[in-house]
Amino acid sequence: MDRARDYLPLAEACLGPSIWHYLQTGSSDASVTDKQNAFTTIRLIPRPLRNVQGGHTRLTLYGQELAHPLLLAPVSYQRLFHADGECASAMAASAQGGQMLVSSLASQPFAAIARASSTENLDDPGFQLPWFQLYWQGERERTARLLQRAAATGFSVVVLTVDAPIKRASLQLPDDVAAVNLENHPPPAPLSQAQSMVFDGWMKQAPTWDDVAWLRQQTQLPLLLKGILHPDDAEHVLALGCDGIVVSSHGGRVLDGAPTSLDVLPDIVQRIDGRMPILFDSGIRSGRDAFIALALGATAVLVGRPYLWGLTVGGALGVAHVIRLLRDELEMTMALTGCAQLGDIGHHCLIAR
Ligand code: FNR
Repeated sequence: MDRARDYLPLAEACLGPSIWHYLQTGSSDASVTDKQNAFTTIRLIPRPLRNVQGGHTRLTLYGQELAHPLLLAPVSYQRLFHADGECASAMAASAQGGQMLVSSLASQPFAAIARASSTENLDDPGFQLPWFQLYWQGERERTARLLQRAAATGFSVVVLTVDAPIKRASLQLPDDVAAVNLENHPPPAPLSQAQSMVFDGWMKQAPTWDDVAWLRQQTQLPLLLKGILHPDDAEHVLALGCDGIVVSSHGGRVLDGAPTSLDVLPDIVQRIDGRMPILFDSGIRSGRDAFIALALGATAVLVGRPYLWGLTVGGALGVAHVIRLLRDELEMTMALTGCAQLGDIGHHCLIAR
């Protein structure tokens, strides 16, 4: 288990210290290690002798047939890690029969990423282009224009990330890496002495629930919110007519002291009670971790840093290999716990230590 971790030291050796820091760190070191430790407090119950022949990890999500529930999380500026950037990740995701979420801060044009993801699937009539991760663009008109560009590319699902309204500039980008799909923002108006940089500066650019209600009216595509950690917020998402959430702490990169997404998942699952899919991320490093999230009620999981390690070391092949390793581990965990399909995985497979 944890075979994807073999890529970690190799990736570190390939990247300069500032890019490595950008990839690996969170809002504090504790935030990152908490995420990973949360999984180790849970034990799985072996169930031998069950017939799991013909078992599989397939699922249907937003009308899309996926071979497994391990999606690639949206990660910005992937040309920092490999010259083939997002195109490599998209190609690997589709070659492995899964899905990728393309960041608003992608470093390659949407059209190129869409083409890369479809090369493996030209003959598959059911093939769907990647999902689009939307960052609010400071105001409605600019956000609508970005959404329209993504929809015109053919991206199939929209995921609005709501947990990171404040961007802490942690990396000086090299000259040849940029968010090429975004319009230039005009510089913010200067603040008076009485105004706060946080409340009147950064947060003035952040979306509110009213903006989510507005956004819901702007697209027919399935709309999910990423970065939900409270059952009341999950309920609010549903009430606004959205189609799902990603329970996520952004990989421990935003609020110091936030709970791990694993801590809050059961309460959110209980409150939503099957009324919409609940995706999960932050801290998944193995197929066993993915199994635990599924057992606690997630419909599918997003994987972040591990596929970037693969991308750094081996481009598309590295990403495909990491997905395959995680999937093999998930299958192995399912087989040993007597689960032939994702629907067999549940709370009954676990005991908390
Ligand atoms: C991210 N994440 C992120 N999320 C998002 O919605 N849009 C983005 O552009 C980015 N960019 C980004 C860059 C880097 C370097 C990292 C590590 C993460 C968060 C990401 O989608 C996901 O929530 C976490 O990475 C999941 O945690 P793990 O799997 O990395 O522990």
